[in-house]
Amino acid sequence: MMLPRIGVFDSGVGGLTVLKAMAEQIPAHYFYFGDTARLPYGTKSAETVARYAIGATRFLEAQNIDLLVIACNTATALALPLIKEAAHVPVVGVVEPGAAMAAEVSTQRAVIVIATEATVSSHAYRDALQRHGLEAYEKACPLLVPLVEEGWTEHPVTEQVARIYLGEAMAQAPGHADVLVLACTHYPLLAPTLHRILPVQMQIVDSAESTARAVRQMLREKSGCHPERSEVTSATERSRKPALSLSKGNPLPEGGPPSEHRTFRFYVTDSVDKFKRLAARFLGRQVDNVEHVDLGG
Ligand code: DGL
Repeated sequence: MMLPRIGVFDSGVGGLTVLKAMAEQIPAHYFYFGDTARLPYGTKSAETVARYAIGATRFLEAQNIDLLVIACNTATALALPLIKEAAHVPVVGVVEPGAAMAAEVSTQRAVIVIATEATVSSHAYRDALQRHGLEAYEKACPLLVPLVEEGWTEHPVTEQVARIYLGEAMAQAPGHADVLVLACTHYPLLAPTLHRILPVQMQIVDSAESTARAVRQMLREKSGCHPERSEVTSATERSRKPALSLSKGNPLPEGGPPSEHRTFRFYVTDSVDKFKRLAARFLGRQVDNVEHVDLGG
C-alpha cells in the first residue's frame, strides 16, 4: 500500500491538534515540524512569520513530502500565499477549511472567531468567512495559548479568562451569532471549557477537525478513491527510507482506519524533551522519535 507523505508545519506544539485529527482519518507518513525555538508566531509580523514558514517548508520538502499542511492559524493567516508560491508541493492551510465548515454549520450566517493577535489583525478569517456569505466578529485571546501550554485546560483561571474574552466577543457580535470558530491550534483543548461558557445554541467549529476533513477530501479527489487505498503520491515511495513508527506497538490514533502503516516523525527547533512533555499533553500519549533541527535565522 502506498501512503501519502504529509508534512505538517506549526510554530510549536499546537499543530499536534491538527496532526491528531488527520491521523485519526488519514493513513499517511507524517512529518511534523514545530518551530519551538521561535514561537509564538501569534505576536510576530507577517514578514517574519513568512520567512520562518518558508524555511520550514524547505525543510519539510527535503523529507520528500507530497503535501504540506500549514497547521498554524497564524502562519496560514499571514503567509499562505507566499508559502504556496515558494512550495513545490500542494499546500493546505487551516483558514479556508475552518471557514467552509463554519458556513456549513451556521444557520444565522454570523460567527465569532477567536484567535491570536496576529491572526485577528490579518482579518484572514473575516475575509474567508465573508466569501462564504457569513458575517465574522473576531476577537484576539492572547492569554489562552500560554494557559494551554501550562496544562491549565480545566483550570478556574482559564475558565475565568475565557469567560472574559467570550463576554467581550459576544458584546461586539450580534445576538444571533451561532458559531464560535476556534482559529488557533491550541483552542481545541479548551473546547469543553468553552462549551460550558457559551450559550447552548452556539456551536464550535475547530480548524483542526475541518482541516483534516479538507485534506482527506483532497486526497480522495486526487486519487479518485479513499486515501487509505490511494496511490496519489507513490512515484518515489519505493526508493524512500521508511520513517520510524511513532512509538513501537503504540501508534498515535485510536480507532479509525488501521494504523499499522502510519508513521510519524517529529522535528523541532528547540528542546526535544520539552516538546515530548507538551506533545504528551496534546496527544494524550508519548512520542519518541523527535529530532532537533537548526534552521538558523
Ligand atoms: N500555532 C499558533 C496559531 O495557531 C498559536 C501559537 C503561536 O502563537 O505560535 O495561531
